Amino acid sequence: SNYNVAVVGATGAVGTKMIEMLEETSLPINQVKLLASKRSAGKEVTFKGQTLIIEELVPESFTDIDIALFSAGGNISKQYAPEAVKRGAVVVDNTSHYRMDPEVPLVVPEVNPDALKRHKGIIANPNCSTIQMMVALEPIRQAYGLDRLIVSTYQAVSGAGINAMEELKSQALAYINGTPADKLEADILPSGGDKKHYPIAFNALPQIDVFADADYTYEEWKMINETKKIMEDDSIKVVATCVRIPVLSGHSESIYIEVKEDGSDVSKIKQLIADAPGAVLQDDPSQQLYPQALTSIDRKETFVGRIRQDIDIDKGYHMWVVSDNLLKGAAWNSVQIAETLHEMDLVRV
Ligand code: A2P
Repeated sequence: SNYNVAVVGATGAVGTKMIEMLEETSLPINQVKLLASKRSAGKEVTFKGQTLIIEELVPESFTDIDIALFSAGGNISKQYAPEAVKRGAVVVDNTSHYRMDPEVPLVVPEVNPDALKRHKGIIANPNCSTIQMMVALEPIRQAYGLDRLIVSTYQAVSGAGINAMEELKSQALAYINGTPADKLEADILPSGGDKKHYPIAFNALPQIDVFADADYTYEEWKMINETKKIMEDDSIKVVATCVRIPVLSGHSESIYIEVKEDGSDVSKIKQLIADAPGAVLQDDPSQQLYPQALTSIDRKETFVGRIRQDIDIDKGYHMWVVSDNLLKGAAWNSVQIAETLHEMDLVRV
C-alpha cells in the first residue's frame, strides 16, 4: 500500500527541495502533507500539478502519516518527532538534534544502509558536509582503510536557510549600489545563534554554527563525530575547519586522507571513485575538468576531482569534493533514506 508522507518545514530552503525530491521519487506515495509555522498556513504549493495547501504544524498533523521528513530546526524536531512516532510515523530528521543519540541510526544510504535495521522510529540525516565526504571516502576506506582525514570546507549560504541566501543577495546588491564591502549590513551569518554578525558577501567566514570544545565550532564537531558514527570506527582520526563563502548553493571541500594499507596509487583511487555509488569522477587537469559548486546544483551525486598524491607522505592523498548541499546534503539524502526503508521493508515503528 502507498504511503502518506509529511514534510515539516515545507517552506524552507531544504523543505522546498524535499517536495521536489518527492515529486521524482520511486517511493509509492498516496498523499503528501506540507507543514510549516502558523505564518505559512494557507499558502499554496504545486506538487505533481496539484495544488497543496500548507498547514500549521500541530501534534495531530501526524495522524495517518507513515513517513515524516523534518527540516524545521532542532527544537521543532525535539518537540514534534516523538509526536510523529507516537502516531505510527517513521521520522527522517534533517536536523542535528538526534544525530549522536546511540538509539538513532545516522545514515548515508551508499555507506551504512544496514544501520536502518536498528531504527526505533527516528532516523537522522547527517550534516550536509559530512554526507558528501562519506560518499567520496567510503570506497577508499573499503579498499585501503582510513587512518586519518583532514578536511577544510567552503560552504554555501543555503545551508543556513532561506534568510541567509537573501542576506547574501541583498549585501551583493548593496555593494553594487555603492555601500563599501566592510559596511554591509549583516543580521544572520555567521550564526543566527551567536552575538555578532559579519557580512558574507565578498568575504570568507571561518565560523559555521557556534563555538564549542577546544575552540572548534559545532559544525566542525559534527563532521568529526558523525564520520566516526557513520563509518562505525572510532579510531579514524578526523579534524575539520569549516568556512562559509559567498556561494548560494553547493558545498566544496578540500580533503586530505592517509590510508592504512599498502598498494594504493592515484589511478586506483580514481577508479574507486568512478565505480562508487553516488559519486562522479570529474578529474582531468588537461581539460580543466574538476568539480565546481555551480555545476553541482540540482544534481544528486557527489563530484570528486583534483585527486593527487601528497608530496611527502606515500599513503597521503588530496582531493576536491563538491555536492549540492540542499540535495545530497539534505533533501535527497532524506528521501533516499525513505526509499531505502521502503526497499528494506522497514517503514514501521
Ligand atoms: P515558516 O516559513 O512558516 O517560518 P529555513 O531553514 O529555510 O529557514 O526554513 C525553516 C523552515 O522551518 C520553514 O519551513 C519554517 O516555516 C519552518 N518553521 C520554523 N519555525 C516553525 C514552527 N514553529 N513550526 C513549524 N515550522 C516552523
